[in-house]
Amino acid sequence: MCGICCVVNLTASQCVLQKHVREKLRNRGPDCSQDITDMVLDPSYSCLFSAHVLHMRGVLTPQPLQDKDGNILLWNGEVFGGLTVGAEDNDTKVVLHHLSLCRSPSDVLSVLSQVKGPWAIIYYRKAEHCIWFGRDFFGRRSLLWSSGPEECSFTLTSVSSCLPDSDSAYWQEVPAVGVYSLDLKKCSYNRSLKLELYPWVYIGDEPPNDFTCEGLPSSVSMVMNDSGLLLNFPVPSMNTSLTAATPNDKPNQTSQTSPDDLKVFLKSTEKREMVRNLIDVLSEAVRRRVQCLPYQLKLTEEPNDDEAQVAILFSGGIDSMILAVLADRHIPADRPIDLLNVAFKLQESKINPGSTKKGQTNKRQHASADIAQSDQVKSNCFNVPDRITGRAGLQELKNLSPARKWNFVEINVTQEELKEMREKHISHLVHPLDTVLDDSIGCAVWFAARGTGIISEGTEQRRHTSTAKVVLTGIGADEQLAGYSRHRVRFKTSGLKGLVKELAMELGRISSRNLGRDDRIIGDHGKEARFPYLDEDVVSFLNSLPVWEKADLCLPRGIGEKLLLRLAAVELGLGPSAVLPKRAMQFGSRIAKLENRHEKASDKCKRLVTS
Ligand SMILES: *[C@@H]1O[C@H](CO)[C@@H](O)[C@H](O)[C@H]1NC(C)=O
Ligand SMILES: *[C@@H]1O[C@H](CO)[C@@H](O)[C@H](O)[C@H]1NC(C)=O
Ligand SMILES: *[C@@H]1O[C@H](CO)[C@@H](O)[C@H](O)[C@H]1NC(C)=O
Ligand SMILES: *[C@@H]1O[C@H](CO)[C@@H](O)[C@H](O)[C@H]1NC(C)=O
Ligand SMILES: *[C@@H]1O[C@H](CO)[C@@H](O)[C@H](O)[C@H]1NC(C)=O
Ligand SMILES: *[C@@H]1O[C@H](CO)[C@@H](O)[C@H](O)[C@H]1NC(C)=O
Repeated sequence: MCGICCVVNLTASQCVLQKHVREKLRNRGPDCSQDITDMVLDPSYSCLFSAHVLHMRGVLTPQPLQDKDGNILLWNGEVFGGLTVGAEDNDTKVVLHHLSLCRSPSDVLSVLSQVKGPWAIIYYRKAEHCIWFGRDFFGRRSLLWSSGPEECSFTLTSVSSCLPDSDSAYWQEVPAVGVYSLDLKKCSYNRSLKLELYPWVYIGDEPPNDFTCEGLPSSVSMVMNDSGLLLNFPVPSMNTSLTAATPNDKPNQTSQTSPDDLKVFLKSTEKREMVRNLIDVLSEAVRRRVQCLPYQLKLTEEPNDDEAQVAILFSGGIDSMILAVLADRHIPADRPIDLLNVAFKLQESKINPGSTKKGQTNKRQHASADIAQSDQVKSNCFNVPDRITGRAGLQELKNLSPARKWNFVEINVTQEELKEMREKHISHLVHPLDTVLDDSIGCAVWFAARGTGIISEGTEQRRHTSTAKVVLTGIGADEQLAGYSRHRVRFKTSGLKGLVKELAMELGRISSRNLGRDDRIIGDHGKEARFPYLDEDVVSFLNSLPVWEKADLCLPRGIGEKLLLRLAAVELGLGPSAVLPKRAMQFGSRIAKLENRHEKASDKCKRLVTS
């Protein structure tokens, strides 16, 4: 993960990068920072390119990277496929090499649509006075834009900050709907900023004939390029088939669900085949995301044996359990894996009232039990739902892979610390998103990804800070396999057809709802978020299946939603975690309980406003 930024000014005066934005960029890329400026007199403009690199693999490649013609690349991404990157090659160099060979806009688009993996890019073609920029089709890396305080200036950056007094730059996420170009020659002669958009389109679909862009800074205009040039989605569109084949043997409807209910489905060879295909494609996606880290490259400097290179945001729910089992396959057996489990402190009055009452009777009876009880309450206040399922999940993983060192990192967050970190860091990273939900998830993910907590071994507890630079998250599973309760609602009111529409819509907006935000939040720790469920091959596989293979919302909670993934969990040998119902992170970690309960998730969050 890197922090990249570009400031453009049409007045050919010096471009400046605000200090607080630079600081945030440096958090993302602590290993190497460099600026390049370019001032051109006719046409007249100036540019500042600022890059902050997080060193992940191979030899450190400083950015901005420049080719012999003076073209400049800022690359915040990972090439997991599409372009060939040898084990010793650097993907930034490979991408610039391919771009340098481009002779036309259609060549540039063709290179970018070949890349498999997450990216945000800023690319300057010197001879043509043109800047290309954009995000991959899912928007797995953040990029923001704003037009500066003076007109005729324009800024792109991975992350910003939301100081109310900061020359009031107005930041928006660059919509991940295509790749943009800015022709500085035209803009300079016309003294106005005009972007061209080349949209992402599913193969075989017509390009949209109109596109309105809400987040566009006011002094910037945008046109859709009329030459018919576009980028092809690297995945097929979602299968909209609705006619179910012969219905499966349904498990008996009972209130208790167990992994045995799922085993019934696996009796069908067809189903089993499909489940195995899913496991294969997911396993490969995880492999690509956990390998080629420094330990595989046999560096002379051996990493500390106790330090994990990979961490997983871990609730013990099915999405994170599957990632853990698959990561275990591909990470050398002698390396630990960090499981990051976050809990927000429950106020004591909110802890299970039943147990408090019992405590009071005890109190009258034994004074010594009283002390034990209050200690218990103190530590119990972090026993939130995700902590409990997390511990159970850990046990399942230990049973499956006893030789592996699993570091279950208990991250306990108090209200005071939450308040302090939100104000200092998190509110800036969440910005420009601003809802109650963005606040809850942003805070929960920030503390989890920081990885500072304790590990309990028997009766011993020791402090632990995860040093893993790669953080796997399970995002994308619920959106693709109908995991949310709103999917049940939609299915009840408008059937399979409505469900398919809902899923397609949610996958389409995942960049603006989640991914940019999560990338900014996790990147702030100098770590890189990786999303195996949003791997191109995984999405292609899931998109090719009809919806009723992925979920069966006639079945009870804990079985029907994400059915196919639950079957994969059983096939991988998982037990009770395979039938855990979905619990959203803000509830599982209990951060939502800490805050005002009368808020709606979609309300603007007052706590994010810095004063
Ligand atoms: C390329 O270099 C950058 C900066 O050193 C690093 O972050 C990235 O992981 C490298 N990529 C490869 C494929 O080696
Ligand atoms: C410059 O602006 C004028 C008026 O907005 C417009 O008609 C013209 O096409 C623009 N020229 C270029 C090169 O974009
Ligand atoms: C669209 O792109 C082509 C090729 O880059 C260019 O010649 C043309 O001027 C662009 N159209 C508009 C409306 O800018
Ligand atoms: C469901 O119930 C029927 C009748 O009670 C029984 O024969 C069958 O084995 C049950 N199926 C499962 C999967 O438990
Ligand atoms: C964190 O919470 C757990 C309960 O989930 C508790 O056992 C542990 O002692 C707490 N640790 C600290 C340092 O507060
Ligand atoms: C969609 O699913 C149906 C039913 O399995 C299948 O026959 C069809 O080939 C699929 N379509 C695509 C485009 O994958």
